[in-house]
Amino acid sequence: MDRKGFIKSCGMACLGGSAMAVLLESCATGSYFAKSNNTQNQIIIPKSEFISFSKGKTNDRKYVLVKHEKFSYPICIYKLDEENYSALLMQCTHKGCELKPQGNYLACPCHGSEFDNKGVVQNPPAEQNLQNFQTKADDKNVYINL
Ligand code: FES
Repeated sequence: MDRKGFIKSCGMACLGGSAMAVLLESCATGSYFAKSNNTQNQIIIPKSEFISFSKGKTNDRKYVLVKHEKFSYPICIYKLDEENYSALLMQCTHKGCELKPQGNYLACPCHGSEFDNKGVVQNPPAEQNLQNFQTKADDKNVYINL
């Protein structure tokens, strides 16, 4: 390999490494899609899905996401406490953009509406609360009725 080829190869390797680092970082901070058992009218999520394991430590997840064939938008399930959860369709009530979880609230990337972890509008232009689904929990699972 000549000098020019060597420099070109090194440059491509550096770019590839940088792109991989960005990709891995975004995966590490991305939202988690939970493993769920879906039926026609119900989603069942093991409570263990709200716990993550990293570097030998366990951490609580504030929320997980699930998909169901009935909806083209994901559903965000917030853990409010051990017994109480909220399940929110991630469709903005303003003009329908898909919402992004931001910790304890959901934000709309289109025009800036925000909703709290129970789906209540916190910032306009949206005026209606999010569609939410009835949830219940037992010792092992969270049940979301669609
Ligand atoms: Fe969400 Fe407009 S579509 S704020």
